[in-house]
Amino acid sequence: RQMCIRDRCNIMEEVTLSPEGQAKKALYSAVQPTNALTIGNYIGAIRNMVAMQDEYNCYFAVANMHAITVRQVPAELRKNTLAVLALYMACGIDPKKCTLYVQSHVPCHAELAWVLNTFTYVGEMERMTQFKDKSAKHADNINMGLMDYPVLMAADILLYKADVVPVGIDQRQHLEITRDIATRFNNIYSPTFVVPEGVYPKVGAKIGDLLEPTKKMSKSSEIQTGTVFLSDDKDTVLRKFRRAVTDSENEIRYDPDNKPGVSNLISIYTAFTGKSIEETEREFAGVGYGDFKLAVGEAVAEKTVPLQKEQARLLADKDYLSSVLKEGAAKAYKVASSTLAKVYRKIGFYQL
Ligand code: TYM
Repeated sequence: RQMCIRDRCNIMEEVTLSPEGQAKKALYSAVQPTNALTIGNYIGAIRNMVAMQDEYNCYFAVANMHAITVRQVPAELRKNTLAVLALYMACGIDPKKCTLYVQSHVPCHAELAWVLNTFTYVGEMERMTQFKDKSAKHADNINMGLMDYPVLMAADILLYKADVVPVGIDQRQHLEITRDIATRFNNIYSPTFVVPEGVYPKVGAKIGDLLEPTKKMSKSSEIQTGTVFLSDDKDTVLRKFRRAVTDSENEIRYDPDNKPGVSNLISIYTAFTGKSIEETEREFAGVGYGDFKLAVGEAVAEKTVPLQKEQARLLADKDYLSSVLKEGAAKAYKVASSTLAKVYRKIGFYQL
């Protein structure tokens, strides 16, 4: 259900209503189409996106403009873009309820990012942990886009007046800078942007690498035996879990500081089974690490193998996926262009 409201600048805006007739809050999130996605992406973000889609007016993007801050093979980027869309849908995101689109299909992202650049200080960007990490990893390509990445992310979120942004903990710093930029702009002009809140899962906001559990599990790790991809077949999943690092105690107890490996496995198990940490500890009391690791692997594969089948089924129907993206881009553009027009007016861009 939708209704139109007038904001202070006299622009008609459409607002989605909940069944009770209240305006739904807006939610924004995105995933980069780089490599195959990991169970970290699923647990940290996609799972929450699926769970929140009924309560919020959701915008979910495939962030291909962020992806090019690291050199991509064009054909792979194209392929991965559709793969992320199909994965969103295979995980249960419903394109009838949510706006699903590709970031580069809505030019307002680049346009707002340019404006927001003038409200962001170089020092702030240089301090970003992810920028420092990626600069070290891609020392031969420390491009402006890599540094400007959080400003583009701020533009994504602010264009849709998102109230909430479900992401993993690695994105917290980017969320904080988005809030700073929005507040700065609002203070200089008048309230324009909604200052968004990050939503982080209580358990699983940072899934660790299976071999180095204090390090984030990442799509782009050089050694991939500690990374479980959503596209891994069952044998590969089980093999990766069998090699997961634990400790010498032989007690299945959630204690991230002292037992990072076992706690990471417990987080993964709870995310894939819906059981609580306490239930999991009880279920595996007295069980050896070998059997526990096998059970976690089984729980993961039980979910990811059907996901892969559904993703493949969706990917076989390119016409349908294109229609979802066309509709998504049109819906996204409507909202984004209205925010951008408001920004342009406030900063003094002459309007025709
Ligand atoms: P990306 O593609 O790196 O990751 C997608 C989502 O997965 C989460 N995540 C994890 N969560 C828990 N444990 C892990 N090991 C793990 N690895 C990744 C990330 O926190 C993220 O939520 N910059 C974003 C994409 C983006 C975006 C946005 C997100 C672009 N614009 C606007 C939110 C709002 C990124 O690179 O995510």
